[in-house]
Amino acid sequence: MFNSKKNKNIVFIGFMGSGKSSTSKCLAKLLKRKVLSTDQMIVAQEKKTIAKIFKKEGEPYFRELEKKMVAKIFQKENIIVDCGGGVVLNPDNIKHLKKNGILIYLYTSPAWIYKRIMTNKKRPLLNVKNPLVKIKQLLKDRQFLYRQADHAIDTDGKTPEEVALKVRELLKL
Ligand code: S3P
Repeated sequence: MFNSKKNKNIVFIGFMGSGKSSTSKCLAKLLKRKVLSTDQMIVAQEKKTIAKIFKKEGEPYFRELEKKMVAKIFQKENIIVDCGGGVVLNPDNIKHLKKNGILIYLYTSPAWIYKRIMTNKKRPLLNVKNPLVKIKQLLKDRQFLYRQADHAIDTDGKTPEEVALKVRELLKL
């Protein structure tokens, strides 16, 4: 059913601030594909920001929603998927996304992550006293999960356009 690489989803995973959303948008333009974002689907369904969901309902509730969105997404084909940074924490999510998707890990170093995300307070997990320490710790804990991807691209110093072009070249699309 999902044998052709052309119909496979392109799934971006990686840490917060690695450019998954902006790269997804650029690639969508290049390939004329639709983008689905787990975070945006959650916000639309709950009619609340991610920060509010974390604060009011807690992280486990958010992770359940995330799992449900992945279950919806993996039924689709030929789309680009922009995953929240913690999607990889649930092994079932990876299994599902791999079924009809090519997983691409956008690697970013802690210094670049810090630079990119510290201008907004949208990420509840990094709303702490020392965000850089937290970034380093979380990234270390999750690195092996992100490395389950089919491909990895280093995004340090690169624009989303450059990364999107690299993905197109890598996948020969
Ligand atoms: C999270 C990443 C966020 C969002 C939530 C939790 C994480 O998405 O899903 O704040 O656990 O890494 P982005 O990676 O798009 O920032």
